[in-house]
Amino acid sequence: RDVEVLSVPFGLGAGVSGSEHGPEAVVAENLLHRLRASGRRVRHRIIEADGGAVRSKRSSAVFGAPAPVDRSGDSGGKPGDAGCAFRSGANGGPEGMKHEAEVLAINMLLAKETAEAAKQGRFPLVIGGDHSIAIGSLAGLASHYRKLGVIWFDAHADLNTELTSPSGNMHGIPLAVGLNRSRLKLADVWRGAMPLRPERMAIVAARDIDPGEKELIREAGIRLFAMKEIRERGIERVMLEALHIAGNGADGVHFSFDIDSVDPLEAPGTGTPVPEGLTSHEAYAAFGVLRRAGRITSMDAVEVNPLLDGRGGRTAKLAAKLIVSLFK
Ligand code: ARG
Ligand code: MN
Ligand code: MN
Ligand code: MN
Repeated sequence: RDVEVLSVPFGLGAGVSGSEHGPEAVVAENLLHRLRASGRRVRHRIIEADGGAVRSKRSSAVFGAPAPVDRSGDSGGKPGDAGCAFRSGANGGPEGMKHEAEVLAINMLLAKETAEAAKQGRFPLVIGGDHSIAIGSLAGLASHYRKLGVIWFDAHADLNTELTSPSGNMHGIPLAVGLNRSRLKLADVWRGAMPLRPERMAIVAARDIDPGEKELIREAGIRLFAMKEIRERGIERVMLEALHIAGNGADGVHFSFDIDSVDPLEAPGTGTPVPEGLTSHEAYAAFGVLRRAGRITSMDAVEVNPLLDGRGGRTAKLAAKLIVSLFK
């Protein structure tokens, strides 16, 4: 299959600035050349709303330019503030999610691209950006594949809704959107998108899960492979079972890879690091199982934050190597 690399330099779904620079850093690791060396035809496109204005609105503050005054519902804190003071205040009420309109706009664009690429028989490889862009990936893919399975690789479950989110950050809700459990529905993003089935969903390496997410996991019966089980059974066996679940009756399997699944000792360049994660060795082993099974039909690689990365951009390097390992 040809690979359609879709860079999405968007970071407003995260509470911390910098993930909007992720695609540039990951692609700069010779990504396209290395994918082509695996014998595939590769096309690269950059998906931006507003000619990039949406991306630069907040990052300008990080680089020293005066921050534009934003009265759109995120005025409770400084740019990059992950706090949630405004959510209980006058700004947007208890359901006030941050940058919701911008997140919807970019995801409507991305959904069109993933749907189109899948329809043309290509493999959509989406490089983020924060994890809110998985909303667009899922919406587009779930319109082409009517029985899409999902493997969600993440320190988090990303199953909050607008009502349960403790942060108001949109990157905490994409999987709940996929299930149509949120106020924002998948078909609001891309018409004809089929909601995902919890039976075809596997979450791997999650270890920081909020109360509302726990309740949804329990109630919907979503299979979550925690670190304890991974260490007891080994990542290979876990991945085979995850593939079995996600692939059960599926016509496509989406692999959503949040770099914070990997331990911050090896992947420090990410906005919401959580200790006790996967080793890079385990991550390579997991990707190896997925490559050999040949069932994955699309992928996100998200949450690389070059502004928080160590010297030499080690997190972006690791992300690029892992991505390439899925293809050869
Ligand atoms: N659960 C937390 C929240 O809802 C953190 C989510 C982090 N998500 C991510 N894709 N890194 O805000
Ligand atoms: Mn803020
Ligand atoms: Mn995530
Ligand atoms: Mn995460």
